[in-house]
Amino acid sequence: MKADAFRDQVVIVTGASSGIGKALALQLARQGAKVAIAARRLERLEEVAAECRALGGEALVVPTDVTDETQCKALVEKTVAAFGRLDLLIYSAGLAATALFDEFPDLKLFQYTVNVNFYGAVFCTYYAMPYLKQNKGRIVAISSLGGKVALPYNSPYCASKFALDGFYYSLRMELYQSGVSVTMIYPYWVATEFHAAQLNKDSVPRGAARGQDYYTAKTMTAERCAKITLQATYKRRREVLMGPGGLAAWLRVLAPRLLDRLVIKVFLEPAIRRAREAQAKEKS
Ligand SMILES: NC(=O)c1ccc[n+]([C@@H]2O[C@H](COP(=O)([O-])OP(=O)(O)OC[C@H]3O[C@@H](n4cnc5c(N)ncnc54)[C@H](OP(=O)(O)O)[C@@H]3O)[C@@H](O)[C@H]2O)c1
Repeated sequence: MKADAFRDQVVIVTGASSGIGKALALQLARQGAKVAIAARRLERLEEVAAECRALGGEALVVPTDVTDETQCKALVEKTVAAFGRLDLLIYSAGLAATALFDEFPDLKLFQYTVNVNFYGAVFCTYYAMPYLKQNKGRIVAISSLGGKVALPYNSPYCASKFALDGFYYSLRMELYQSGVSVTMIYPYWVATEFHAAQLNKDSVPRGAARGQDYYTAKTMTAERCAKITLQATYKRRREVLMGPGGLAAWLRVLAPRLLDRLVIKVFLEPAIRRAREAQAKEKS
């Protein structure tokens, strides 16, 4: 991929106020792209826009709550009004709610997670499609390892990310004559604000201090994840599985029971232990 492969391309990046979305916006700006950046936190978006402009790109700030269909429609319309076209939609907005399914006091947080991670993508894609079809454009969805392999303690997250697969696999085939490509990205751990923002059963975020506990020096950076994503986007690859994603996806087909047992040992039991410890700490 050339250093300015996305020059003058008009791109919408959701989830651009932090993490992978922000890193994507900055790398696109460095290549000379015109980026419409969307998320809820206006101040953060203004900072990202200033960085984009300093890197040589054009930036349009569009505060957007992706759970609101009207705001997603406005995001697409404002982008096209400002830049005249749309070449690429990147859906990176996302969050996770973690608990055992029957620990959630009601289903509001479950629905909210699905609304952000899945319906937001559906809304943005629906309104972007006519413009993307005009330019043989590209759609990119930032899914997760949890979108290929089910992770216990994360049922709303996995449900929403598996739903993305069903939706975009279907769409990819519908779009086969249009020239519009669909690229799915399945990151493993990436050091962002994702784990700090992760909600417990009562919608309380984990917080920056505990969120950082997950990361080591070897954890993938948002910048690296964005770089891999843009290369795959440019090549119109179907999907990119990061970390143990490829192996896990094969195991799911070849040895599903073994995979379940592994995930319970490596993921579920420690998650429950950590949650119990945190609860005990809060009470003491
Ligand atoms: N970090 C990881 O380890 C990891 C691993 C696998 C997959 N992923 C996926 O990567 C994507 C990006 O996450 P990240 O790691 O970059 O986390 P992050 O730093 O927490 O970024 C999440 C972004 O989503 C936005 N967002 C959340 N709710 C929103 C809403 N209702 N409307 C609009 N925007 C909303 C946030 O912006 P505002 O709060 O300003 O709205 C923020 O910009 C997510 O889809 C996540 O599932 C992350």
